[in-house]
Amino acid sequence: MPKKLFDPLAIGKVTVPNRIAVSPMCQYSAHDGCADPDWHGQHLMNLAMSRAGLVMIEATAVERIGRITHGCLGLWDDATEASLARVLAPARRVAHRETKFGIQLAHAGRKASAQRPWEGGRCLAMDADPWTTVSASAIPFDGDWHVPVELDQTGIERIKQAFVEAARRAMKLGIEVIEIHAAHGYLLHQFTSPMANHRTDEYGGNREGRHRLPVEIVKAVREAVGDSPVGVGARITGTDWAEGGITIEDAVVLASALKVKVKVKSVDVDVEVDAADYVCVSSGGIVPGIPIPVAEGYQVPLAERIKRETGITTRAVGMIVDPIYADLVIASGRADQVALARAFIDNPRWPWHAAQKLGATVTYPPPYDRIRPGNWPGAALARPK
Ligand SMILES: Cc1cc2nc3c(=O)[nH]c(=O)nc-3n(C[C@H](O)[C@H](O)[C@H](O)COP(=O)(O)O)c2cc1C
Repeated sequence: MPKKLFDPLAIGKVTVPNRIAVSPMCQYSAHDGCADPDWHGQHLMNLAMSRAGLVMIEATAVERIGRITHGCLGLWDDATEASLARVLAPARRVAHRETKFGIQLAHAGRKASAQRPWEGGRCLAMDADPWTTVSASAIPFDGDWHVPVELDQTGIERIKQAFVEAARRAMKLGIEVIEIHAAHGYLLHQFTSPMANHRTDEYGGNREGRHRLPVEIVKAVREAVGDSPVGVGARITGTDWAEGGITIEDAVVLASALKVKVKVKSVDVDVEVDAADYVCVSSGGIVPGIPIPVAEGYQVPLAERIKRETGITTRAVGMIVDPIYADLVIASGRADQVALARAFIDNPRWPWHAAQKLGATVTYPPPYDRIRPGNWPGAALARPK
């Protein structure tokens, strides 16, 4: 059977060379939002050589108080933009269009002002330079977390504008896919989940109200992107895994709403395009302590249902590690793209090995081409069994 994992995929006007994406992964290694030249340099360079079709840059805060931790990456001013340009430009040169770069734009809302995971991941204590957090409602993430300030209309407008400005900066950096983070319990998930949104205005109440902010943000980003060859999408929550939380039915409705038509200029004429070209379907994170049934491909059924019921291009993520399974997810039409996170940290050359296992071919970076199996006698023997 032909291997579908290595087929190209159109994400709006962008074509990625295969169906493999590196899932966004916070590195908690930035300095006041600025990428660390050493850490981010090597991290992105490693992934640039992976031959994944798409590398999603980690959750990147659209304003300073939207960072999860003091180490989170940002894209809110000239300094953060310049720092990302410094590490991204060499990686893009090495990737040489075999791998495209996307970015996940994010706001942590009430989960901001926290320690890095290796410091404990709790909310920042008074002596650790904490900051005031914001959310849909003044409800903390957990009993002892900061009580966020409920965003008013002015605050909501500021945040919308911050997403748009960050998207403009991302385009200046040559980034080809812009993803709005509306999952994992962060700000836009706080708006969509009844477990965190108790508002009674137009941004709360019923499902339409709770979906309003992410939909407005994706629309505004699409309007800013216009007709440029840049894909726009969102990471959404397929389920909160909890009574009274988001269900897959809610997620289907949100994915559908994200396909709302937006008018953009193409040369001299107005054309109508979908606000979102794709969704990536994740789950969980709105409150601590909810058990998640983690197993191989445990979120694939969520992506599959959304794809089937809305027709939107869908990325599946979560415990996709085995190349044969990854190929099956694509070949069986359950999702259009797979994203892997931990497997890429463990093995940044995952696509090289997947291609070998599936009998497909990938192009190696030319200086490394002699180690491609079959390209030089004994190359296959040089790899541990
Ligand atoms: C170190 C690390 C950092 C992560 N940071 C992000 C992030 O920035 N944005 C996001 O949406 N998910 C983040 N995630 C979640 C992953 O993108 C992915 O959804 C999750 O790990 C499940 O995929 P996996 O089983 O392939 O690891 C992170 C995961 C890890 C392990």
